[in-house]
Amino acid sequence: MSEEVKGTQIQWFPGHMTKTLRLMEAEIKNIDLVLVLLDARIPRSSLNPEIERVCAGKPKLYLLNKSDLADPSVTKQWVKALSGENSACIAVSSKKQGAANAVRAEIDKAIAPLLARRAAKGMQGAKTRIMLVGIPNVGKSTFINNFAGAKLAKAADRPGVTRGKQWITVPGYELLDMPGVLWKKFEDRTTATNLAFIGSIKDNVLDMEEIAANLIGEVHRLYPGKLAERYKLKPAQMEKTGYDLLAEIGRNRGMLISGGDIDYERAAIMVVDEFRASKLGNLTLEFPAEAEDEQTV
Ligand code: G4P
Repeated sequence: MSEEVKGTQIQWFPGHMTKTLRLMEAEIKNIDLVLVLLDARIPRSSLNPEIERVCAGKPKLYLLNKSDLADPSVTKQWVKALSGENSACIAVSSKKQGAANAVRAEIDKAIAPLLARRAAKGMQGAKTRIMLVGIPNVGKSTFINNFAGAKLAKAADRPGVTRGKQWITVPGYELLDMPGVLWKKFEDRTTATNLAFIGSIKDNVLDMEEIAANLIGEVHRLYPGKLAERYKLKPAQMEKTGYDLLAEIGRNRGMLISGGDIDYERAAIMVVDEFRASKLGNLTLEFPAEAEDEQTV
């Protein structure tokens, strides 16, 4: 396993993730449809290019999970952007009842041509084989529990928990659950920091103050009103950026150490935790390409 942080260079690709990709490569030929779980707050950064490569050519259903935490108007744009000839996309919240029914309906729509082909060959009754993929912490275990209607998968609150592949039989489908996987190398810094914001990279390999300063920068850029409201930031404080703005937030929350200095570490952990728990409201940090220039919220 190699875990290393160099400034903003996050390198994190444990050995079990290489194994997972190999397993996916071996299984993909037996799969009828791939369910790709994305985090609705960062759809682009949670779209793993390694998974896309392995699953290319298979019908795909993208699930924008945790949509209860994301900005609904941006989620709508993503649903449109990710729906194509060989792919469909819906927004879900795996924690809510009823999420599974909407997903079943979309799966059935997506595989209708396959079922028709099977029926023509007299093969009706064969189970549909679905592979479930996603990055760590995207909510796969939660989704499976919802979809299967039972507590089958153990929801882990830490990314990087090693699990093997697992076939789950649910009425009408065979579901192949793959462990969460990140990519070998992050192409850009934004992807790595976005994954850190949502908890897909273990916090203990990150510089939380830097992550918090970056997160505040993004929220300041996209949702300044929500940031100001949550941390009671005055206009003069909102003129600051990065670590200086983190300091203002720490000051407003009374997070001081002896001598009156700001406790940056405590303030950083608080900001990241509050973002993850959607205390700042419903936020989406990435927009589909065509909407990239219209980010004013
Ligand atoms: P994983 O298997 O992909 O690694 O993810 P897992 O299901 O363990 O979910 C990771 C965290 O995300 C869990 O929170 C889970 O409750 C939460 N989660 C999953 N789906 C949704 C969703 O649609 N909306 C929201 N708001 N949260 C979701 P946790 O803090 O680790 O645990 P807990 O809150 O369940 O105790």
